[in-house]
Amino acid sequence: MTVHAPQAQETAPASWYVDPALWPVERRRIFAANWQFLTHESAIAEPRSWRADVLAGYPVIVVRGDDGQLRGFHNVCRHRAGPLVREDAGVCDGHLTCQYHGWKYMLDGRLRMARDFGAASDFDPREFGLFTVRLAVWRGLVFACIEGEPADLATQLAPIDARLGEVDWSGLKVALRRQHVLDCNWKTYVENYSEGYHVANVHPGLDAEIQADKYRVTIEGRVVLHDVPPRAHDTVYNGVWAWLWPNIAINCYSRGLMIERMSPIGHLQTRLDYLYLTPDGEPVETETLTMSDEVTAEDKWITERVQQNLNAGVYDTGRLSPKHETGIAAFQGWMREALAKG
Ligand code: FES
Ligand SMILES: [Fe+2]
Repeated sequence: MTVHAPQAQETAPASWYVDPALWPVERRRIFAANWQFLTHESAIAEPRSWRADVLAGYPVIVVRGDDGQLRGFHNVCRHRAGPLVREDAGVCDGHLTCQYHGWKYMLDGRLRMARDFGAASDFDPREFGLFTVRLAVWRGLVFACIEGEPADLATQLAPIDARLGEVDWSGLKVALRRQHVLDCNWKTYVENYSEGYHVANVHPGLDAEIQADKYRVTIEGRVVLHDVPPRAHDTVYNGVWAWLWPNIAINCYSRGLMIERMSPIGHLQTRLDYLYLTPDGEPVETETLTMSDEVTAEDKWITERVQQNLNAGVYDTGRLSPKHETGIAAFQGWMREALAKG
């Protein structure tokens, strides 16, 4: 019997990473149609507390009602599209009040009062409630879906649940938020996250902590799992690294975890939102932050250089390593599927 080596799949074309026309399509078919990570329950634990965010260009707000229910809305007033809040987070007075002309909404989204609007026979406030956004919570992590019928969140995350086993996340609270802006297309960054092939060249510090030759990537459903054996047992890299389509990574450390959201800001910029959760919100270990800063700076450097080269127009397609880049092959397959829809 002849044993054939696997084929080296062709990469996606450079146009995927540079064409501005692709971004509005991705925004609707990929980001609006799938679960987007928003925050942790501990950040909006109290009734009337809220958090605002922008998910792939969609401003949204999540608020906890007096009944304890979390509800999600577009942060867009039904009068003339004003914003309902000015900050990223806060506690309201029992209403969401538009910052433009002062229309007031109940926390279930109904329009309570159109301030000083004047008499109008054809204006029915019941028709002007906030546009809703679907929410789902998994292990305390709050996700939103802008439109459509996404696959059940818990089912999608089941491969991560299986890896975590009995690990208890119930006492975790938000300890720290950090942001990094990268001058690259979001897919350039996601693909970089999806392989350990570059570790030895790009991350010498990380390479000293892990056994890069044993780095394994496996795909279960729409989850990409990274198995990265540490060199020593007490390293901060002892844990589970996982990524869920289209843009969320869950990096578990020895104490707590870090959620990493890879948010596109247009087609040539990506914002990384890091949310650290620790037992009772205790400060994140310095060693964890130092390593994270170092690895992020190195990934920023390489992904920005790659983006520059994609923009240059010399390169079109290459080949994916069958040994190291199966995560990228899967990602590009899901991209093709999403782009073929509609
Ligand atoms: S836009 Fe909200 S009250 Fe006018
Ligand atoms: Fe990296």
